[in-house]
Amino acid sequence: MDSQAAIPRHVAIVMDGNGRWARKRFMPRFFGHKAGVDSLVKTVLACADRGIEYLTVYAFSSENWKRPTEEVSGLMGLVLVAVAKYLTKLADRGVRIRIVGDRNQVSDKLRAAWEQAESLTRDNKRITLSVCFNYGGRWDIVQACRRAIVDGVPPDQLDEARLSRYMALSHAPDPDLLIRTGGEVRISNFLLWQAAYSELVFTDCLWPEFGDAELDAALAEFARRDRRFGGVKDSVPLEAKQA
Ligand code: IPE
Ligand code: IPE
Ligand code: MG
Repeated sequence: MDSQAAIPRHVAIVMDGNGRWARKRFMPRFFGHKAGVDSLVKTVLACADRGIEYLTVYAFSSENWKRPTEEVSGLMGLVLVAVAKYLTKLADRGVRIRIVGDRNQVSDKLRAAWEQAESLTRDNKRITLSVCFNYGGRWDIVQACRRAIVDGVPPDQLDEARLSRYMALSHAPDPDLLIRTGGEVRISNFLLWQAAYSELVFTDCLWPEFGDAELDAALAEFARRDRRFGGVKDSVPLEAKQA
């Protein structure tokens, strides 16, 4: 397999381990989230350099509201700081930004920052960064079904392809590679629908420490995988066998 063919089109990342990274340094968890933003910006550019077309990251889950109020409000504030600090840089480097998740529960200020990020980068083509914020895989499936019903799609015409068009990540192909940092080996309600055939890579590396070496290790692991999508390796279609 040549190395170009082995590069995934779409990489998804559960950016986990910020809190533990900070604790190891006797710092508050917020310090880890702040370092996590820097890690994200570096990773987006590293992915673009490697020819990856889509990067989707899990930044705040539907369940993260369960955290202490001060951590939740710290994370919301950090989004505003991150947009102010990095939006121009990402826009200049050709990054198209999309925010994926339920926007109803976030503040007007945050919604406005998301809209600014999306509209400023709308026409960029180098890489699409989808930030999953207030996102849950189950929420996504439910909102897709609801919108299909509102559109009046008849039940017998609702198939996988049609429902996919209502999913929150319909602007991207399904992820080829899904990486989770932080050592946990679970999905935590991330792309339940879209990750049906993603290759999974779990690493103990804590998200603020994730860099070129860890990205390249995950890409090398991906290149070694044999993706069959339910088929059999080197299978010959039945018609060919019968001919
Ligand atoms: C991931 O890091 C970031 C968010 C969930 C917002 P964590 O905050 O979960 O860090 P750990 O898992 O506690 O180390
Ligand atoms: C998943 O990490 C969510 C994000 C990285 C945004 P969590 O830290 O919330 O997941 P659990 O609680 O360990 O499953
Ligand atoms: Mg965590």
